[in-house]
Amino acid sequence: MGNKQKILVTGGLGYIGSHTVVALIQAGYEVVILDDLSNSSLMILDRIEQITGVRPSFYQINLLDKKQLYAIFSDETDLSAVIHFAAFKAVGESVREPVKYFTNNLVSLLHLLEVMDHFQVTNLVFSSSATVYGDARELPVKESTPFQKALSSYGSTKQMGEEILEKTAAVKDIQVISLRYFNPVGAHDSAWIGELPNGVPNNLMPYITQVAAGLRPSLTVFGNDYDTPDGTCVRDYIHVVDLAKAHVKSCGRLIDKKNRDSFEVFNIGTGKGLSVLEIIHAFEKQNQLSLKYEIGPRRSGDSPAMYADVTRAKEILRWEAELGLTEIVTSAWKWEQTLHPHNTCL
Ligand code: UFG
Repeated sequence: MGNKQKILVTGGLGYIGSHTVVALIQAGYEVVILDDLSNSSLMILDRIEQITGVRPSFYQINLLDKKQLYAIFSDETDLSAVIHFAAFKAVGESVREPVKYFTNNLVSLLHLLEVMDHFQVTNLVFSSSATVYGDARELPVKESTPFQKALSSYGSTKQMGEEILEKTAAVKDIQVISLRYFNPVGAHDSAWIGELPNGVPNNLMPYITQVAAGLRPSLTVFGNDYDTPDGTCVRDYIHVVDLAKAHVKSCGRLIDKKNRDSFEVFNIGTGKGLSVLEIIHAFEKQNQLSLKYEIGPRRSGDSPAMYADVTRAKEILRWEAELGLTEIVTSAWKWEQTLHPHNTCL
């Protein structure tokens, strides 16, 4: 018990963070969670304990508070790695509130790097995003595909975050793995943890599950006149439980000093593009219900198609997605139903 490797997880009560904490505990790690609860709930800590039988240490902290961050690192000695999830992620809001996003997402990263350097914690896994590619010119996108201009301030914070990390890792004693997530969806199959959107969901899957639950009248499909097989946008939907495992692999790779460079990046997706209509129809079929939707105008900033080349993750990180669309749509619906037990399916 006492000699487990200890991983500090910022944003560990969030959607991807909580699934990763569960996977880390199940892989035998000790976990310390930092979260400011701005887009998460303390209830998730109980749920993590229900699933794993272990209650991780938890500190409520905003990473802009550098003093408190120093205090936590001086209490939590012998950290083997840090996984940094904590960030704002609403694309539309980031366009309206650039300063809020640059401050929160970048200053918190800078604080973390300063404190890690001070306490000689040398391994970091960073939450990046497919959004770094911007409106990619070639598909599937490879890690070497050049970045296009970011389509939002959120996207800029991920591009800049990677640049800060690459430049720091080139000269300091820090090893970084940056994981570029495509579209994380689904929930843990226990249905104890899942996505908890704040207000009206921005993303497709939580919107679908809320419509199915009768919480919203209908789904608007944002455009069906794209140059794609059925006219709706194509994305690479990755099950959050698979995504969580990519973080466990990355921690192991850094701890075992298997990384080839001080800054490594991996696309984390399935490699398969699916359209909005394909998602809707799979959701209906697997869950045996019918979803109310209509076709609306395009949403500004959406790329017609985005999906990953996942060769690098497969060959170098030795990670690949194991769960498919069936598990995605069934787990997402099961989770939604546990959130609203009094809404029967329509
Ligand atoms: N969509 C709808 N109706 C909705 C919501 C979404 O038709 O109500 C469509 C979108 O137009 C898009 C697809 O469903 O074609 C997926 O949209 P999401 O909002 O779920 O996901 P995005 O691909 O826009 O966003 C994801 C991540 C972001 C990231 C972005 C760019 O959630 O963090 O990819 O890489 F910035």
